[in-house]
Amino acid sequence: MDGKALEFIILTDTHFLPRGETMYGLDPRASLDAAISVINRDHPGVDFVVILGDLTDAGERAAYENLAESVSALNVPSVLMMGNHDKRAAFREFFPYADDDGSGFVQALRVLPQASVLTLDTLDEADTHIGDGVLCPRRLAFLETSLRNAPKDRPLLLLQHHHSGKVGLRSMDRYNVRNAEEQLAVFESARRQPDYMFHGHIHRPIFGLWHGIPYHIQRGINHQVGFDLDTEDKIPGSLEAPDFALVRVNSEGVAIHHRQFLYAGPSYWLHDKDAVSGRFDG
Ligand SMILES: [Fe+2]
Repeated sequence: MDGKALEFIILTDTHFLPRGETMYGLDPRASLDAAISVINRDHPGVDFVVILGDLTDAGERAAYENLAESVSALNVPSVLMMGNHDKRAAFREFFPYADDDGSGFVQALRVLPQASVLTLDTLDEADTHIGDGVLCPRRLAFLETSLRNAPKDRPLLLLQHHHSGKVGLRSMDRYNVRNAEEQLAVFESARRQPDYMFHGHIHRPIFGLWHGIPYHIQRGINHQVGFDLDTEDKIPGSLEAPDFALVRVNSEGVAIHHRQFLYAGPSYWLHDKDAVSGRFDG
């Protein structure tokens, strides 16, 4: 695998509201617009931008309309995925060309020269489970077919909103993929497992291994989950700065760079130790 690296940007949990509405004092549209303007300015050559679900906070048409206006400013292709806060029908009204696996799920396998990118839809719209994710029999079958079809000569990246394994943050570990053991069984039967998994949902940066598979969890675009590993019955909030990830895949492997796109502090050269003084508090 020589030549150009695959480069894509991960954003997640945009939690859009109808235009002009705010949540926790923030307008999600303002954060995404800021991220998109940095991407257009500094990363014009990326292959695509993916948003890993929770596109809206409550799934209203007006929120998807607001999101479609924002995303239309991107100068590179976008891939939009489902999270537990989304509604597929309202989403498709404003994103008619979004992925469809033939059964209505928003998921696809993209075989690219440098890697295969598999996006899975873990949304359960049944309302009998609030917040957790599921891979129903149709989606497990799609996963198995995709694992078998993905060429073995390049990495396989699996993107899904919900985390499959527990990460040790009790308030969010209640809401993982509730049948993750069936996902593991599909990896076994297909004799293929992803080389990397990417998630949103937790609104915190977390990295680890799940049954030998490395995973990466991205901060949210609007609000974050606070660092509180112990509380289980309610979710702690925080307004730590959002970021996006630039993922680069080349013949040596995978590198993931985080960028705090709202950072407005000084930039300087490290050899000049008097260049700035004090900590920038934003
Ligand atoms: Fe979320």
